[in-house]
Amino acid sequence: MSAVRHFLTLGDLSSAEHRRLIQRACELKRLQRAGEPHAFLENRVLGMIFEKSSTRTRVSFESGMAQFGGHAMFLSPRDTQLGRGEPVEDTARVLSRMVDAVMIRTFDHETVERFASCSRSPVINGLTDRFHPCQLLADMLTFNEHRGEIRGRTVAWVGDGNNMCHSYINAARIFGFHLRIATPAGFEPEAEVVAAGGDAVQVGNDPRAAVEGADLVVTDVWASMGQEEEQAQRERAFADFQVDEDLMALADREALFMHCLPAHRGEEVSAGVLEGEQSVVWEEAENRLHAQKALLEFLILGG
Ligand code: CP
Ligand code: NVA
Repeated sequence: MSAVRHFLTLGDLSSAEHRRLIQRACELKRLQRAGEPHAFLENRVLGMIFEKSSTRTRVSFESGMAQFGGHAMFLSPRDTQLGRGEPVEDTARVLSRMVDAVMIRTFDHETVERFASCSRSPVINGLTDRFHPCQLLADMLTFNEHRGEIRGRTVAWVGDGNNMCHSYINAARIFGFHLRIATPAGFEPEAEVVAAGGDAVQVGNDPRAAVEGADLVVTDVWASMGQEEEQAQRERAFADFQVDEDLMALADREALFMHCLPAHRGEEVSAGVLEGEQSVVWEEAENRLHAQKALLEFLILGG
């Protein structure tokens, strides 16, 4: 059981493994685009537990497994025993004997850790309140395709110090870029996560200073899943943190704009920036498919 590899945060893979994963994702994207068969996970099954909504994560994992000749199974707590109180540890022991990998989207990050500690099969974090590592694989692939190496570049995170922000902090250390974060006071990322980012990460409250000369500007919703009742209060707190044309003008001329989606036009991003020439959000979304296929192959077949 100790040999099983999980993907709960980006730190579960080394920098070299991440580099190989991105290269493999490019190759799998080429195969898929060319319509070449690539049934590398024939007869393999992915179990997917969703305790929160999803469009991209569900469809990318499900399509990815189908394209690989395998199968993905959607499991909602509403109609499994998880929703009726069966312990996560028991569910992990049972499910992981029947499927080849498990993807989980849930609230507490601890839930995926508890599941993984009892799982015989690899466990993938499909988003928790603290981290969203799969999205970072897609984002790194997307930057690489458009601008080459991200190592040494500057990334600006504008908005909430949330799960995506935390995964950007992890990525800064692993992929070797500088990360400037600007959040409203009181919405900074967790100090422990920032500390682990070391020199690569600067946290402040000024979006203009963060974006100045950046090669990539990233934002996310102001109220994440589970924070819906804070929407109005957050709209007030984040009012000066919209990524609009004026803010993007401060970034490098070649800067890209990314957003994990779903986006709220007129809140965290203006419609003009989201639909503008610097925005690569649709390719970023597509790249969830290719990056996660590389991840599934790595975890199920071994790196
Ligand atoms: N970006 C992302 O994870 O999207 P979904 O919530 O649609 O899966
Ligand atoms: N921070 C967002 C990301 C959605 C993909 C959330 O957790 O709702």
